[in-house]
Amino acid sequence: MIAIYPGSFDPITLGHLDIIQRGSRLFDQVIVAVLRNPNKIPLFSVEQRLEQIRVTTKHLPNVTVDSFDGLTVNYALIQQAQVLLRGLRAVSDFEIELQMAHTNKTLSTQIETVFLATSNEYSFLSSSVVKEIAKFGGSVDHLVPAHIALDIYQCYNNHSSLTSNPITTETTHLPNNMSTDKEA
Ligand code: PNS
Repeated sequence: MIAIYPGSFDPITLGHLDIIQRGSRLFDQVIVAVLRNPNKIPLFSVEQRLEQIRVTTKHLPNVTVDSFDGLTVNYALIQQAQVLLRGLRAVSDFEIELQMAHTNKTLSTQIETVFLATSNEYSFLSSSVVKEIAKFGGSVDHLVPAHIALDIYQCYNNHSSLTSNPITTETTHLPNNMSTDKEA
């Protein structure tokens, strides 16, 4: 059974990786599919995100990475997938996700949405939270894979200085210059 894990992944977080790893144990193949969304100005280009996800999932042989535009169900049908995989963090996610699942069902009855409850330690985590923390100079080392943390610091940072993460007490890069932020 092939599952599509669609999303923005701007950038991929440890919460996403948790869903991908657990999905890869449930399905024969998981395709992580990055939406090409002309309505959003992302921090990372689609090509950067594809590469970030490839590096992050390289230890998972049945996980592939791709991009798509248009409707997710149409992409799933082209890939001959049967499942859309989504993570659920909290009740607030549930309303939106249920609406999306119902909408997708009206578009194709062949595609089922399967939800995985996000592991407890990532129940608060989103790409937006990661960007918000990094934008204001905090450490995101505990929230994203190490190579992605570096990409994020580079994005927000022309002249970095070192500081300590108050939780992990690890030494991290702290941005001084936030002017490269592309998001509102
Ligand atoms: O990571 P995100 O931003 O929560 O992912 C949302 C995504 C990409 C899964 C959703 O916006 C989507 O499927 N967009 C493609 C357009 C589509 O199929 N819309 C119909 C379902 S509402």
